[in-house]
Amino acid sequence: MSGSYLTAMTRSKPSAPAVHAYTNIIVPRKFNSVLDWGSGKGRDVIFFRENKLRVAGYDPYYNPTKPKLSPKYDCVMCTYVLNTIKTKRRRVDCLREARKYLRRDGRMVISARSKVSLDKEVKDSWSLCGDGWITGRETFQHGFDIAELVEVAKAASLTPITCFCISSGGVLLVAGK
Ligand SMILES: C[S@@+](CC[C@H](N)C(=O)[O-])C[C@H]1O[C@@H](n2cnc3c(N)ncnc32)[C@H](O)[C@@H]1O
Repeated sequence: MSGSYLTAMTRSKPSAPAVHAYTNIIVPRKFNSVLDWGSGKGRDVIFFRENKLRVAGYDPYYNPTKPKLSPKYDCVMCTYVLNTIKTKRRRVDCLREARKYLRRDGRMVISARSKVSLDKEVKDSWSLCGDGWITGRETFQHGFDIAELVEVAKAASLTPITCFCISSGGVLLVAGK
């Protein structure tokens, strides 16, 4: 996992992907369960719980007990996790594992830092590492564009439904099984 956990923010409010998923997917589809894969410090877990959903969070550092595989979840979130993982193979493995928890007609909502926004933040103190950067805090960051996020989802046997840039500097992909 290296220093990926250091990338987890202390959020005062839920993430933009969590709000998007709740408003545009969970409510209209009458979903009632969510798994937050790579939940960091757990702010989105609180948000979904406050909205009366059955919620589980998993994070290899902050909440390392994996949830039970059954019953599966209507919605699986993977929010700003992939951009902190150093290799393509491990990014695919991460999604493949999260996918196991998704019920057949459920939706996976994957978001990652966008390449455009990350490129604007690069500092002299950052160094190149593989296809990304080691930041001044010794964390890894890789920026995604839409095509690459679609590609990694497909490699994890997910079926992309829609993918777009969000205003908070991310790319968001909604996928099914
Ligand atoms: C930038 S934080 C995002 C946390 C949270 N989703 C949020 O948006 O506040 C990235 C998180 O991904 C977790 N992580 C790293 N590799 C992972 C993996 N293979 N599977 C699940 N989580 C992972 C790290 O422990 C870290 O807490």
